[in-house]
Amino acid sequence: MAREWLSCAPRSIVSSSRIRLGAALSALLLNACGQHGEGASTQASALAASQTSPAITHSASAISTQSNAAPSALAALGKKIFFDPGLSASGRLSCASCHSPDHAYAAPNALAVQLGGAKLDQQGARAVPSLRYVLNRTPLWSKVFISNEAERILEGNEPPVGGFGWDGRFNTLHEQAAFPLLAANEMANANAEDVVAKLQRAAYSDDFRQLFGAQVFDDRKSAFAKLGFALERFELEDPSFHPYSSKYDDYLDGKAQLSEAERRGLMLFDDPQRGNCASCHIDRKGADGSHPLFTDYQFEALGVPRNPEIRANRDPHYFDQGLCGPLRSDQAAEKKYCGMFKTPTLRNVATRGAFLHNGRFHTLEDALRFYVQRDTDPGRWYPRDANGGVSKFDDLPMDLRGNVDVIDRPLTLHEGEAPAWSDAEIGDVAAFLRALTDRDSKIAQTN
Ligand code: HEC
Ligand code: HEC
Repeated sequence: MAREWLSCAPRSIVSSSRIRLGAALSALLLNACGQHGEGASTQASALAASQTSPAITHSASAISTQSNAAPSALAALGKKIFFDPGLSASGRLSCASCHSPDHAYAAPNALAVQLGGAKLDQQGARAVPSLRYVLNRTPLWSKVFISNEAERILEGNEPPVGGFGWDGRFNTLHEQAAFPLLAANEMANANAEDVVAKLQRAAYSDDFRQLFGAQVFDDRKSAFAKLGFALERFELEDPSFHPYSSKYDDYLDGKAQLSEAERRGLMLFDDPQRGNCASCHIDRKGADGSHPLFTDYQFEALGVPRNPEIRANRDPHYFDQGLCGPLRSDQAAEKKYCGMFKTPTLRNVATRGAFLHNGRFHTLEDALRFYVQRDTDPGRWYPRDANGGVSKFDDLPMDLRGNVDVIDRPLTLHEGEAPAWSDAEIGDVAAFLRALTDRDSKIAQTN
């Protein structure tokens, strides 16, 4: 069964118990699916043939291929681009340098943020997310505002959902791909023309001409767009992005047993009164049998402590506020969104060397301990202010700290209360999360 292509992302979202407005949201998302669903695979092959640029979207329904179908010629070209360090100003940085296929397409090292730029000495802004599993199921960015006041009081406004990046600012993978190619602290090309000039010198430039015609490089803007489509097809079609080879997948298929510790960890992860993790990191099969991706793609402000490893944080006026900027600009006026980041998948999370959007923690256990002790022992996580009080949620400007989630368990506790989990229980949950590691995934190297 080709479970990775089964359905649009919202299927798992619809089954989330955390959704307070399931109906409205899912109608909206399913509509988005419906619009893009039909005939997309023929569109994809038409792209190669006709050299036009159809609206390829990233919802799972954009692809109706079987999982064992051979990647298209466009995807094969995208793969060469993805692994080509020649497309960076340094000549040493490819997409795969930060998104290493051996590390679930996340960083191969434990740096909080990666180094880029012409001399590889410029820090990125955020930790590198894994590209496994999520890309073909990420819903389009949306925020639902409930206009019916009674309903709003009863249900509350839904948090926003979807889009690519920790802040959801890209709606398609081809738009996203332009960002690292042009960002001064990543692949650092001056402009699209600069990238295409490098592409023309690449060993595979003839593949590009074969697919798109001998004159393809004459119009550099259009050639740059085609490069984005090739990367997108690689990311959507290549089976290495969704191997489903973890022990937990085998467990869901009835082919493996969880150990005692893993089983206890799973129960704590699920328990709404204690961990409550599965309310956002969905861990059950979808109604159609699809295996869970451990995210609902929604945005939350968790109040992760400021990370001194990020040089930009030396400026006390700089704050990475996720949805409301500075990388994203269209939601800047929505102050209630400041501090929100997209829920990442927890598949392969145990192979990461840096956790959360700012890479603040470097072990899985510390990341888990932060969740259960953030409120019971805040002095452990946050610095003291001038008056000797704990500066809780210090990575947000003072007036926006009220945005941080204190309503979803286990983030509801108070100083001095017993944390939701003991250290032994943290160990059990970590054991469970290690069962989400794909067979081929390596652990990020500590530096
Ligand atoms: C220097 C490291 C670096 C390089 C090189 C890099 N990326 Fe990324 N990538 C990141 C970081 C960091 C993020 C998170 C960005 C954010 O939230 O602002 C990211 C995010 C992404 C995402 C969004 C994932 C999601 O689930 O939302 C995709 C897709 C992606 N990168 C693809 C690529 C492609 C394709 C290339 C090559 C053209 C590339 N990246 C090159 C560091 C890198
Ligand atoms: C209200 C939704 C929500 C709940 C409940 C929740 N998470 Fe998360 N989780 C998030 C979001 C959002 C992020 C990213 C936040 C950020 O980086 O600022 C995240 C990030 C993480 C990460 C870091 C992953 C990475 O790739 O860096 C881990 C580990 C994690 N969560 C585990 C858990 C565990 C364990 C629980 C239960 C105790 C839990 N989460 C409960 C929303 C949630």
